[in-house]
Amino acid sequence: MLVKTDSLKKHFYLGRGQTLHAVDGISLNIAENEILGLVGESGSGKSTFGKTLIGLHDKTSGDAFYQGELLPKRFSANDHLRFSREMQMIFQDPYSSLNPRMTVLDIVSEGLRMQGIPDKDAIERVAHWLGRVGLNVDHMSRYPHEFSGGQRQRIGIARAMIIEPNFIVCDEPISALDVSVQAQVINLLDELKQSLGLTLLFIAHDLSMVRYVSDRMAVMYLGSLVEVGPANEVFFEPKHPYTQLLVESNPEPDPATERERIYRTIDGEVTSPVNVRHGCRFADRCPKVMDRCRVETPELIATPNSRQVACHLF
Ligand SMILES: Nc1ncnc2c1ncn2[C@@H]1O[C@H](COP(=O)(O)OP(=O)(O)O)[C@@H](O)[C@H]1O
Ligand SMILES: [Mg+2]
Repeated sequence: MLVKTDSLKKHFYLGRGQTLHAVDGISLNIAENEILGLVGESGSGKSTFGKTLIGLHDKTSGDAFYQGELLPKRFSANDHLRFSREMQMIFQDPYSSLNPRMTVLDIVSEGLRMQGIPDKDAIERVAHWLGRVGLNVDHMSRYPHEFSGGQRQRIGIARAMIIEPNFIVCDEPISALDVSVQAQVINLLDELKQSLGLTLLFIAHDLSMVRYVSDRMAVMYLGSLVEVGPANEVFFEPKHPYTQLLVESNPEPDPATERERIYRTIDGEVTSPVNVRHGCRFADRCPKVMDRCRVETPELIATPNSRQVACHLF
């Protein structure tokens, strides 16, 4: 396993005795050269999990491992420097994640400069990586506002890739982009994965896109995993009632099937992640809820065909 978490938790203390359980005990393995898709509605804790995993948040409890090495609970400046060579993040919003006052050269080369790479080498590598992501050398002296959303996301990809990391957390890298450029960015990430043997945690809220790019898919609800398995199996034969609803409410990008689809949204409000109670977190919205679900928290257990489901029905 390249990356592994064991009951990883990240809680935010909100004051007045209120604690928000953003990530509430996630155990997940990601194999070398695997793309693991992490899906779930907005607010389920996907970004917090990614950030906690690579040290951008301190861990509340639980462990994370990189190549078998236990990662520190709280990263020091040195840990950030060291592990940023291995693990990088591509952020959701290509508008706010790039400093508007920095040139493309400065943005993309920042990680190299932090590592003390001489300017001349850094410039050469920026030129190389701008080419790899479909931009060009002339773009180096420009500022983020001069680029389209898709181009900015390419700048963000170049910034992460230039470090030549093994593992990248891609946090909804395409959701802010026009549909026409989404596929281009996906293809670019896929090409980089193939040619460089990258391992990706690919976060998204829409399942159909994740299914295309991912080897396996993990479904998150209110800080916990409800289902994990091979991407196509989870998509076409979802077992957990939440995954079933998520798949049904997720329109296929194909317009022909789209027309025939009966739209169905998931009923009920998302339960608050603040001061969570015992029992299944999906109980209040679950069409198959049983008495037991309100008192006993279901564990994520293995079922045949390498699927894991956290539901008392399995
Ligand atoms: N820095 C923070 N302080 C307090 N609450 C936070 C913070 N970051 C995220 N949260 C909360 O944690 C929960 C999960 O958020 P997030 O990880 O962004 O979800 P997702 O990426 O799945 O949309 C949400 O309820 C969000 O409001
Ligand atoms: Mg997010």
